[in-house]
Amino acid sequence: MALLHGGQLQQVAKQYNIPPSDWIDVSTGIAPISYPIPIIPLSVWQQLPQQNPDLIAAAQQYYQCSQLMITNGSQAIIKALPALYRQKNAESQDVYLPERGYKEHAHAWKNAGYNLHFYQEFLPEMSEILPNSVLVIINPNNPTGQFFNGQVIAQYQERLKLINGLLVLDEAFIDVVPGNQSYYNQLENSHSLVLRSFGKFFGLAGIRIGFLVANGYWCGAFKELLGPWQINGPAQLIAQHALQDTSWQTRQKDTLTRLRIAQEHMLRQAFPQIILREINGCNLFLTLSFHQQDTAKKLYHLLCQQGVYCRLADEQDTLRFGITTEELLERLTLACRQAYQQLT
Ligand SMILES: Cc1ncc(COP(=O)(O)O)c(C=O)c1O
Repeated sequence: MALLHGGQLQQVAKQYNIPPSDWIDVSTGIAPISYPIPIIPLSVWQQLPQQNPDLIAAAQQYYQCSQLMITNGSQAIIKALPALYRQKNAESQDVYLPERGYKEHAHAWKNAGYNLHFYQEFLPEMSEILPNSVLVIINPNNPTGQFFNGQVIAQYQERLKLINGLLVLDEAFIDVVPGNQSYYNQLENSHSLVLRSFGKFFGLAGIRIGFLVANGYWCGAFKELLGPWQINGPAQLIAQHALQDTSWQTRQKDTLTRLRIAQEHMLRQAFPQIILREINGCNLFLTLSFHQQDTAKKLYHLLCQQGVYCRLADEQDTLRFGITTEELLERLTLACRQAYQQLT
């Protein structure tokens, strides 16, 4: 069965009988400001998409790596990886994943017949990780915002290499983590790979682009599996411009930081400490947990009634808000305040 994520506005709008255009959609962690679409020559629409060397060069520069592969969103890798890994390592049957995290990882490994082991706040003890296992780390995690630093990751990388395992680092939201935090060390061996998502930071999830940063073995295996024409020509051109445009990237980081600070402040005012336990996240989303188990579910419903669509966790105990624009923050504020009043 397909998993539910944020972004199902049509469905939710129908359920609450409010036209889709009247909603504030903060159900995803996609930046509310998008990279401006450049002029796309007619030939780019007409021709079959060739691998664009300028895009590869721009991506290598942006991701600071020598080997990568462009995909139709990092989701394409998440889905295909378990079967490919089985082929590479016939002994592998166990995978360790965050209990709370982007659920497509668990879904893919489960479908491939792996035994799932979930960890919570702390990564599994290194000595307990079974030989030939896979460890998935989402850094920073969606929705918890938890972040593991490079030193910790390096230790696990070393360990997984020793036990003939695989470290999968999903860095879909790392672009907004201050400093160059991405971890590409030791990717010359085939025991680690890194997934990067293009759509979130650049606010263009619809063009479906993602990257696999890994050694030649993995890039080759995925190229072979996914075949030619994975990514359409216009999407490649847009991504090339966006990845090269360092001044836009700096502005986007500053803007997202400012918007996140304002939105977090607003949420803390709207939902006082009597109900709010904590807010976690990053500059692309904020996840709220509450003292009472059912608060998130009630607030979700009260917000939907006002045309505000946030993401209620599958566990139904937290609410995740994507970052919204300055223009929409006021309406979001009013809706949050009203939801709180109706709750109490
Ligand atoms: C943690 C995480 N990884 C990967 C993805 C897949 O994103 P994409 O396929 O757009 O790169 C998502 C999507 O929401 C995500 O939250």
